[in-house]
Amino acid sequence: MKTLLTREQLHDGVAKMADQIAACYENRHLTIVGVLTGSLVLVADVIRLLDLPMRVGVIAASSYRGATTVPGELSVNDELMLDIRGRDVLLMDDIFDTGRTLVRVLEKMQQYEPNSLRSAVLLRKQGRQEVTAEPDFVAFDIPDEFVVGYGLDYEDMYRNLPYLAALEEADLARHAKSVGVMGS
Ligand code: IMP
Ligand code: MG
Repeated sequence: MKTLLTREQLHDGVAKMADQIAACYENRHLTIVGVLTGSLVLVADVIRLLDLPMRVGVIAASSYRGATTVPGELSVNDELMLDIRGRDVLLMDDIFDTGRTLVRVLEKMQQYEPNSLRSAVLLRKQGRQEVTAEPDFVAFDIPDEFVVGYGLDYEDMYRNLPYLAALEEADLARHAKSVGVMGS
């Protein structure tokens, strides 16, 4: 797989974003909500870089279904989310692609009337947005390629890669083959 961002580049970009978040929420009590499952690695790294009193929770959203890199139907499930009413809330996700997921999740969270609601993403894919809203914090802008690693998946795999890789045609064929072997 082609490496798009190395471990070191990811670390530096995430640390920079954490600094911006820290400056924004100075002396505040923060509630971080990570979008499952892609934000897990980012949330784990960012919260350990923030010296702020905070609560951490999750919300579930999924837009990709099965063996496809094309968005499918979107569903948001907030059953696991902690109480955010009157709180300063930062929503975190792995990637801002079309932007539909983040907008839908933010709408859902707004119903609970937080004191403030902002968003942070690891990646923003260039030229893909279908919404006017933008995340408040972005660690990296990347070209329009399908990427995996550092929490991002293809068919729920590769989230554990410590670097960010672009999936190419040859990788897809190799992936299909390895999944086939596991299933037999
Ligand atoms: P959006 O609603 O189009 O912005 O898509 C956001 C969601 O799609 C993200 O939270 C990811 O789970 C998934 N996604 C979008 N692009 C990629 C990618 O390049 N690799 C892996 N997942 C992606
Ligand atoms: Mg995903």
